Amino acid sequence: MTGKKEREPFHWRSAISHKTRDKIVVRGYDVNELTGNVSFAEMLHLVWKGELPEKNVAKMIDALLVCFAEHAMSPSTVSARMVMSGAGYIMPALAGGILSIGYIHVDAHEAAQTWITAIKLMEEKGWTLDQTADYLAKGIRSEEKDDAFIRVFGKRTVIPGWHHPQHIRDLRSPRIIELAERFGVAGNHVKFVVALENATEKYWGRKVYMNVAGAISSTLVDMGFNPDECLAFCAIARSVSIVAHCVEEKAREKGWRASTKSKIIQPLDLALQKPDYYDGPPDRHLPKEKFVEPLTRAPYHYTDQSEDE
Ligand SMILES: CC(C)(COP(=O)(O)OP(=O)(O)OC[C@H]1O[C@@H](n2cnc3c(N)ncnc32)[C@H](O)[C@@H]1OP(=O)(O)O)[C@@H](O)C(=O)NCCC(=O)NCCS
Repeated sequence: MTGKKEREPFHWRSAISHKTRDKIVVRGYDVNELTGNVSFAEMLHLVWKGELPEKNVAKMIDALLVCFAEHAMSPSTVSARMVMSGAGYIMPALAGGILSIGYIHVDAHEAAQTWITAIKLMEEKGWTLDQTADYLAKGIRSEEKDDAFIRVFGKRTVIPGWHHPQHIRDLRSPRIIELAERFGVAGNHVKFVVALENATEKYWGRKVYMNVAGAISSTLVDMGFNPDECLAFCAIARSVSIVAHCVEEKAREKGWRASTKSKIIQPLDLALQKPDYYDGPPDRHLPKEKFVEPLTRAPYHYTDQSEDE
């Protein structure tokens, strides 16, 4: 016995919300007052962090949700489609898609933790961002890591939130970094991932680039989110996509998919995802009045595709 007054099992004390028969209150606000007056991005910040965000933070959260909402055939959508082809209804398929998100697909948790650890180390050692980035790149690349490095960063041989097996240079990252800077939310964690891209050249013999999860996690950490929230944030955004793929799977495909007569393919093969196999609306632009945040930094592959080949 601790001497403290015990609460009944399942009697939670929560700082998030409370409700009566007539009222639901979220972080102090009546849910009906929030409804119609705040965006989903603002609500996410309120529920998770306890306060409504500054306008620029809300814009950035919204941009990140949009950026991560859809990515064609990826491990999560393909897993969800496979579950849908067997289960035939939405919930197990949605859960299956989300369950494929983790250390390899998305990896925003490990990435966020790494940026937080790196900046803490930088502050302890009095290093610059470049020195810290060099230390991390060198340590990850070296086959024989010293104990000091392993104690701080572990034995990983790849940078979390880095490289993309399909795009190679993930075209979404520069857009995120650009907006983080423009919206004034970029702090040391965003600056660190930019420095780390530069540091890779020395140890890989070529630049290896951050992927969308590296860019999202560093931006979220700069806005006060923790590693669990960073990964969950990506799962929430990607659920939008998973639902669409599940619904399309059920509407357009037969259950089971394969039979002895079917040719088996590699479902993540980028060659199978090109426009030839897409029958939605043709490529189009947003209407002019919607286009408020112009793209000033060109995505990587528009500038020097030759480097990838
Ligand atoms: C996703 C992942 C498993 C793909 O790895 P892969 O299939 O080996 O990638 P590729 O074969 O295209 O890349 C091979 C080269 O890129 C390097 N590379 C790949 N991912 C790397 C990373 N995260 N950090 C550093 N270098 C990386 C490999 O070391 C290899 O280079 P080398 O031959 O000089 O050693 C890997 O990039 C990874 O684990 N990334 C971290 C997790 C992550 O961010 N996941 C989200 C992906 S969207």
